[in-house]
Amino acid sequence: MLHILGFAFFLVATVSTAPLAPVENLMDCGFPNGTDKQIHSYMCAQGEQFTITDIETLDVKGNPLYPIDPRQPFILNLTTYNHGEQIDDNKVNVKIFQYKNQFNTNTCTWVEVPSFGLLNGIDGCQFAHNCPLTSGPLFLVLPLDLSQFSAIINLLAAYKPYELQIRLFNYNKGNTKHEEIACVVAQVELS
Ligand SMILES: *[C@@H]1O[C@H](CO)[C@@H](O)[C@H](O)[C@H]1NC(C)=O
Ligand SMILES: *[C@@H]1O[C@H](CO)[C@@H](O)[C@H](O)[C@H]1NC(C)=O
Repeated sequence: MLHILGFAFFLVATVSTAPLAPVENLMDCGFPNGTDKQIHSYMCAQGEQFTITDIETLDVKGNPLYPIDPRQPFILNLTTYNHGEQIDDNKVNVKIFQYKNQFNTNTCTWVEVPSFGLLNGIDGCQFAHNCPLTSGPLFLVLPLDLSQFSAIINLLAAYKPYELQIRLFNYNKGNTKHEEIACVVAQVELS
């Protein structure tokens, strides 16, 4: 009898000290849009000043890089078209989402990772050295170093699909409207 009790106690103790599996792990959401193989991007608003037709991810030496380690500097090579005036000053808002099964609903969705406003109003010229954005076709080679955002980067799990929603606003001198000039979604695997 004692023996059985002891065994039961052992069982309870074992079960209760086992790490609780987070609900989100019950269903593997996989990598949507082939993001296990390469970046997937698309415009999230139509009819704006910029169209972006291709994004390549490169390491600092210019070699193809995938998945992306956000703790290391990397380069985005954007094939874009500026349908309007030259942009000398711009601000960028970024939202990050993780693809997961949030409330065990058996449907996978993009769930926003809280960024506490840290990714709002980023000075595009200063951060991505992307200015001026001349009119017409543009190949933008943007060296990115996310180390200043380590508080957020450290919340991200490796080998999972993430979505970056990037919105660009016109901050040209004299412009008071600060209209959105591009919205692009980049879905990537982070390592
Ligand atoms: C996959 O990409 C398309 C656009 O190319 C987008 O409309 C769709 O929402 C994406 N799927 C997921 C799960 O994000
Ligand atoms: C950027 O992409 C364009 C179009 O694919 C390509 O012609 C160019 O060589 C790329 N630049 C770099 C630095 O990889």
